[in-house]
Amino acid sequence: MLKKTIVLLPGDGIGPEVLRAGAAILRECAQEFGHQFDLPEYPVGGAAIDAAGDPLPPSTLEACGKADAVLLGAVGGPKWDALPVGKRPESGLLGLRKGLGLYVNVRPVRLRAPLRGISPLKPERLGELDLEIVRELSGGMYFGNPEMYSVPEIERIAAFAFARAEGRERRLCSVDKANVLASSQLWRRTVNTMSQVYPAVQVEHMYVDNAAMQLVLRPSQFDVMLTSNMFGDILSDESAALVGSIGLLPSASFGTGAPLFEPIHGSAPQIAGKDMANPIGTILSVTMLLRDTLGLGIEADWVERSLDRVLASGFRTTDIAEPGAQVIGTAAFIDHLRQEMQSTLAHAERYGWGV
Ligand code: IPM
Ligand code: MG
Repeated sequence: MLKKTIVLLPGDGIGPEVLRAGAAILRECAQEFGHQFDLPEYPVGGAAIDAAGDPLPPSTLEACGKADAVLLGAVGGPKWDALPVGKRPESGLLGLRKGLGLYVNVRPVRLRAPLRGISPLKPERLGELDLEIVRELSGGMYFGNPEMYSVPEIERIAAFAFARAEGRERRLCSVDKANVLASSQLWRRTVNTMSQVYPAVQVEHMYVDNAAMQLVLRPSQFDVMLTSNMFGDILSDESAALVGSIGLLPSASFGTGAPLFEPIHGSAPQIAGKDMANPIGTILSVTMLLRDTLGLGIEADWVERSLDRVLASGFRTTDIAEPGAQVIGTAAFIDHLRQEMQSTLAHAERYGWGV
């Protein structure tokens, strides 16, 4: 039984809707497994600009700094589009990542069996897509012009990616633009030097333009992709298209401070408040939080298996609806998931298997 504080940052657009879904799942886990999760909410992004004139109020950063983990929805929207870079909602998120010392961002890209059919790729191209993008999160073009990376900055993210690859299929593809960028040349040299420490991992280098193409041509060739802040941002949206919707992918960020979990999608202002958002990216971010940070693998498995059963029953949000699917809203999707979690648990208690 655990006692943990998880700070909730709803943010803007569909952020509050998907975060409500994530919080409901956390509460369900706490209740059924006897944990105590405190879930205080703080403003970030446009909501924080409106409330406090600052996309990252000091009280928000301070609360996150003391938390065991942070769960974020999304930031940004047309209302704040006229603001200059540095004052926009996005600065709140970048400031949070920086302020918490989060330099690792992991974005697992996995097909969920009931959703294979919604990929725009033909099945023979799709293969067994299961990769992870390890994105550097606190430097690069996001924080310097021209792009700057230091050797220690590259080493620490590469070490994470190598270790990640060791736990998977032991293939690491480092993505750069070393034919043009000096920062990428340093990146490539540093990754090569580091590879001596991880002899079991097979390292390959790929230019980012080619990587973007290879992801569409043969995504199953990739195991772990290691890349910079900007390239990781772009390649992760492309990967989301491969699995069928940007609403499906979670992410986890690690570093020196409290880890941060967030879906990879944006605030989707055009569907905000319409009960149409896909909560799966947030739910899978919650399972990463449970498994990777709190060590609650059983709870995480419980949520994911129940989720797959809801999907296998044909329930879909609009973005992942196939012909014949039962299209439901965000709130109804979560209700179905909670019901499924309850019956999965009852089943496991009766027969001794299954959570
Ligand atoms: C993401 C987002 C953010 C980023 C934006 C909202 C600042 O696109 O997490 O991928 O660029 O990192
Ligand atoms: Mg992005």
